[in-house]
Amino acid sequence: MSNDFLHMTPTTHYPYRHGQLCCEGVPLTKLADAVGTPAYVYSRAALLESYGAYDHAFKDVPHLVCYSIKANSNLAVIATLARAGAGADIVSGGELHRALRAGVSPKRIIFSGVGKTRDEMRDALKAEILLFNVESVGELRALDEVAREMGTRAPVALRVNPDVDPQTHRYIATGLKSAKFGIPYTQALTAYEEAARLPGLQVVGADMHIGSQLTKTSPLGDAVARVAALVKQLRERRIEITTIDVGGGLGIRYHDETPPSHAEYATVLLPALKELGVTVLLEPGRSIVGNAGALLTRVLYHKQTDAKTFVVVDAAMNDLVRPAFYDSYHAIVPVTEARANAPVETADVVGPICESGDFFAKDRAMPRPEEGDLLAILSAGAYGFVMASNYNTRPRPVEVLVDGDRYTIVRRRETFEDLVAGETTA
Ligand code: LLP
Repeated sequence: MSNDFLHMTPTTHYPYRHGQLCCEGVPLTKLADAVGTPAYVYSRAALLESYGAYDHAFKDVPHLVCYSIKANSNLAVIATLARAGAGADIVSGGELHRALRAGVSPKRIIFSGVGKTRDEMRDALKAEILLFNVESVGELRALDEVAREMGTRAPVALRVNPDVDPQTHRYIATGLKSAKFGIPYTQALTAYEEAARLPGLQVVGADMHIGSQLTKTSPLGDAVARVAALVKQLRERRIEITTIDVGGGLGIRYHDETPPSHAEYATVLLPALKELGVTVLLEPGRSIVGNAGALLTRVLYHKQTDAKTFVVVDAAMNDLVRPAFYDSYHAIVPVTEARANAPVETADVVGPICESGDFFAKDRAMPRPEEGDLLAILSAGAYGFVMASNYNTRPRPVEVLVDGDRYTIVRRRETFEDLVAGETTA
């Protein structure tokens, strides 16, 4: 196998050193010996680099990067970003709990999501978060009632659905009018007028989020132009908008994608935002944590059938569901560099779960691994552990945060007892 194979890895914080794949300065072989497999590994430097790139790209305007914690809600990941100055974008009471527990200042928390319950609204109002991104007129009315019951006013932005095609996977496209998300552009003015009249609400902003894993900037440019036009109309009606939330969605490189850089992303958005003189809120998830993480797994068996070659590993779709769910590509590389010189074969990399959808790669040309080898499934930091389940009664993996040549177990591997805790035999 030529070295091109290795150089295609999309993540700069996973270099080969002395023949071993490392996360920053920690050899993954050593890590696997210490914590077992499967294991999620995250690079602290990678998190901070992406956060810093956002901060820098928007430095000319007042801004707040609210890390979308759904992408990876480990407390250590949130806390690392919070200590660097990030806020949090949350979508549930559980995420509110995590954000506060990780030390995010409530004044840096924004609450998004299409179906907030009254209990969740109450908790967030009690915590005095920065604002709610409201997604329907029904939700506006409910929030107004809850806030008035509590003798307070809820700061709100309306998530507007700008009806643009984000040109991404249909499961993660949110900005078309056929999506359940946001208030339709055509209804936005009326909704704002109602919001402005409700005594329990204080209208402060406008919000959009058109989709995830965006690799083109033009849909973002179109969407922000539509939101900016709306804000101008609102100002004519004396509805003052001081924040615009441009959502998340910036794509990353999993394979051969060429997503815009943080700077290019900012260049598309900033002209419209600067003109309005607003504070810019951002809700990035994947682009902060995706390429910071890898899923480390060990090869159990190498199996040849009449039809195919299978590499059976100890991680499974319950640990990382993205390939099964979205048919998404994750680079898979050998931890021992010399293995890259093994003969190339075309194989399916699969887990032990009783489902044909339990795969990490299909018909992938890769250097033939031996049983017992370690493989790293790259770009697994976002929507990896958070979407893990216990299917087949498999404990969820350990999570490890690497900082230079040190590492910390930031979530222990689940035990069988963890899995039955809370159940009875009736
Ligand atoms: N803001 C809102 C309102 C969102 O719905 C999302 C993601 C984000 C921000 C963060 O988007 P990001 O920067 O991560 O693209 N599980 C899928 C991705 C689902 C995205 C859901 N919403 C995947 O594994 O590709």
